[in-house]
Amino acid sequence: MTLFTSVTVIQLFFLLLARFTCLTTGAYLEDKVLQLEKNYIKIKEDLEAKVVNLETKVARLEAQVNHQESIFTALIKSERDKKFASQKGISRNVETNEHYKRNAAPRTCGEVFATNPLLDSGMYWIDPDGQGVGDNAINVYCNMTTGSTSVLHDSELKIDVGKCSDPGCYSRKINYYATEKQIAALVGLSNNCSQTIIYDCSNAPLINKDVSYSWWNDKNGNKKTFSSTGMANCDGSLRIQAIGVIESKQDLPMTRLNFGGTSQGSGQHTLGRLECTGKVKVEGMPTSCDDLWRIGNTMNGIYSIVANKKVQTVFCDFNKRLGSEKGFQTWIGFSNVKSAQVHFYAKMSAAFTKEKTPLPFKEARINVGKGMDLLTGKFTAPRTGFYFFSFTGLAEFPLASTSKTLGVRLLLDGTSVGNAWVSEQHTFKDQSSPLTLQSILYLKSGQKVWLEIDTISTGVKLFDRFYTHFTGFLLEEEDMSL
Ligand SMILES: *[C@@H]1O[C@H](CO)[C@@H](O)[C@H](O)[C@H]1NC(C)=O
Ligand SMILES: *[C@@H]1O[C@H](CO)[C@@H](O)[C@H](O)[C@H]1NC(C)=O
Repeated sequence: MTLFTSVTVIQLFFLLLARFTCLTTGAYLEDKVLQLEKNYIKIKEDLEAKVVNLETKVARLEAQVNHQESIFTALIKSERDKKFASQKGISRNVETNEHYKRNAAPRTCGEVFATNPLLDSGMYWIDPDGQGVGDNAINVYCNMTTGSTSVLHDSELKIDVGKCSDPGCYSRKINYYATEKQIAALVGLSNNCSQTIIYDCSNAPLINKDVSYSWWNDKNGNKKTFSSTGMANCDGSLRIQAIGVIESKQDLPMTRLNFGGTSQGSGQHTLGRLECTGKVKVEGMPTSCDDLWRIGNTMNGIYSIVANKKVQTVFCDFNKRLGSEKGFQTWIGFSNVKSAQVHFYAKMSAAFTKEKTPLPFKEARINVGKGMDLLTGKFTAPRTGFYFFSFTGLAEFPLASTSKTLGVRLLLDGTSVGNAWVSEQHTFKDQSSPLTLQSILYLKSGQKVWLEIDTISTGVKLFDRFYTHFTGFLLEEEDMSL
């Protein structure tokens, strides 16, 4: 304003001077006036240029102030909320103190929202990699309408690329207000993440005759084209706003912006925040420490997981959250699953000679799970899985000059799966020989296993309770639900 006022005063002064010159007349003075007028025009032009320059600066500052103000408002609001909370004696998740930095419990804004749906949108502390492990909590923007989490960075304002012709001659690293680990954890926990890049530009081709002038770097530093984000090429002379969106979680966030080819045109970039929504669900049983972490476990310790249809025991060190870190999941071994206890030890109560008839095990010392039926002598598998069986018998021979034999076989639903066999020549009275058979069988629930005499010579006996035993137990159950 003062600039224009002084311009007006100067103008007035020259007018008066011109009048005066006319009155007094004189060529010398006229020349002087002309010279002064020229000077005046130059000064005026200079001043006007300055004003335009200042106006641009003011506009830029205004934008900056607006941005700062929004942060300031958020801070004031959180301070007010804190006071309000202490007055009412209630605690709200809006404190921005050191305590919160280390002890923020929610892992995403969605979880903050879940603790209290009445909370307003604003800055909150969250701890994506888990409370008490990994990195400190981070301060993020929570949109309480959508429940989305936004990670702020240092390049959110519109930034001019300037004039530069070579590919990537302008390059800017993006610094996020969160650690790499925390960002990776947030992305891992969220259903969808995205980041928007806007390029206000004209005559600034991103790619021209196979030369790529501009690109971005993903979270691993790999080069990615802007065309992969759906951004227009910006090779026209008309000023456009080219917009690109990145949604691939394995690439996010953008770590660097590179532009070039602006020597004939111009370009300004505006990079949005990293915004994540939703919560990844772990369907079924956990198959890794990663699943356990997603479910919400953060205490280092020994856990059971299900992998390859087996329950396995692992040690999870949640401090080492980044998937590639060694020692995050340490395998210990297989865990046993037994939904029912099954073991028995049965004996025959008297000597037996009948062929093709289940051996009568009428006495059980142990029959946990009631798999062994003492009436029929048959074992019925109560669960599907691997079973161990052991049979020991004693064959008693008569006095004989010919060959005498005794064969006992193990049957699974009527099919022979193994034999125990003794055969003797020239036996004397009460001569005896042991028969043994061990087996591991895979049984489906309900399948039956029993023993029977396959072959028996006249006068041979399978001896009684002290010498003939049948033992079995469930070795490993196959969980049919896995
Ligand atoms: C929340 O997100 C929605 C959808 O993106 C947007 O329209 C709204 O303005 C956001 N609200 C706040 C307070 O940020
Ligand atoms: C999240 O992404 C999936 C697949 O990419 C899409 O089907 C779904 O609509 C997205 N959800 C939101 C809320 O954007």
